Amino acid sequence: MISVNEYKKRFFKNKRLNIENTARCTLLCPLCKRSTFLHLNNTSLPGTDLTPSQFKKIIKYFKLITFGGQLSDPVFGRHFLELLDICYKEKLPKTRVLTAATGKSEDWYKTAFKTNPDAIWTFGIDGPPHLSSTYRINQDGEFLFKMMCLAKEMKIKTIWQYIIFPYNKKYVEECKARAEQLGIGMFFIESERSDFEQAKKRKAIKLSAEQKKQTKEKWIKVLEQQGIKNKNLNNLKPRCIYEEQEITLSSEGYFTPCCWTDDELYNQQPWINSFFSPHLHIDNNDTVDNIFNSKEWRRFFKMLLKNPNNAPPVCFEYCASAKGDHEILKSDKHGETVRKH
Ligand SMILES: C[S@@+](CC[C@H](N)C(=O)[O-])C[C@H]1O[C@@H](n2cnc3c(N)ncnc32)[C@H](O)[C@@H]1O
Ligand code: SF4
Ligand code: SF4
Repeated sequence: MISVNEYKKRFFKNKRLNIENTARCTLLCPLCKRSTFLHLNNTSLPGTDLTPSQFKKIIKYFKLITFGGQLSDPVFGRHFLELLDICYKEKLPKTRVLTAATGKSEDWYKTAFKTNPDAIWTFGIDGPPHLSSTYRINQDGEFLFKMMCLAKEMKIKTIWQYIIFPYNKKYVEECKARAEQLGIGMFFIESERSDFEQAKKRKAIKLSAEQKKQTKEKWIKVLEQQGIKNKNLNNLKPRCIYEEQEITLSSEGYFTPCCWTDDELYNQQPWINSFFSPHLHIDNNDTVDNIFNSKEWRRFFKMLLKNPNNAPPVCFEYCASAKGDHEILKSDKHGETVRKH
């Protein structure tokens, strides 16, 4: 195992940041944390829009930025165009946008593409456009497809992301051919979370406030037990000690080492709760370095590197899978890049 100092020198500085720059989205994809949150809570989603002044602190530290998040769509961020503009003017080496929601006008997309012609846009269209809303509930798939083509015409680096589900499996080759014809790159996700029909049915049941509370408490326990069960496998391979694992910034202004730990079903677990201490909020720090140099962050990585058996259940749930050592990070004509442990 590498030492904490060596780890920081080699990896931490090169990490990418995945930003939840708003809490809004018009879709309700059944397996998204957004629809889970709305199913289990009586409130709307917490969180606010990332402001240009908060963002300026961030880009002093991170050069690789993904606007994506876990429960919102970046295009609805009140200051999103200003943030894109900052990335362009500051010549960030890589700015990515992950989007699937519709609700913005064609003129808005034109402005966004002009604001930062270097940003890479990934459009989540799961199947032929007219079928995409089977999973992407409320999406106007045909409009989004048109915007994806517009991006390509405006010379934006454009990717069509296609999550493979039982309903769209048979259209994969047809869509590949369509993307090739348009000169658009394609990216397929074979999601482990693929059977969404059950989730759709479960979430369609309206729960009372008391039932919501009980269901949430039950799920928190079930997930904790899952992690504790995996712990017996003694096979933890923490992804966040490598640079490929993005750090996450939540719409509530807190950083976490990965997107799994930025979740209300896990954030009360030991270690994880410390990332949400008020003094680690972005507004309470002049620089992002202060946050990563805090005792909470230093102790967490020291524990993962020196004494991983003390890791919280969520780490064993997500980073102790049997496939850990063989995870394919990148696959192209030059071969495969596999995560090394
Ligand atoms: C929560 S979304 C936020 C960004 C944007 N709203 C979107 O959906 O692309 C983050 C990522 O999760 C992906 N995602 C959504 N549902 C998924 C699923 N069932 N399996 C795997 N990835 C999924 C999205 O496509 C996106 O790349
Ligand atoms: S578009 Fe993205 S954020 Fe919105 S519900 Fe779907 S997966 Fe979640
Ligand atoms: S689940 Fe735990 S070990 Fe895995 S990446 Fe997240 S913080 Fe690191």
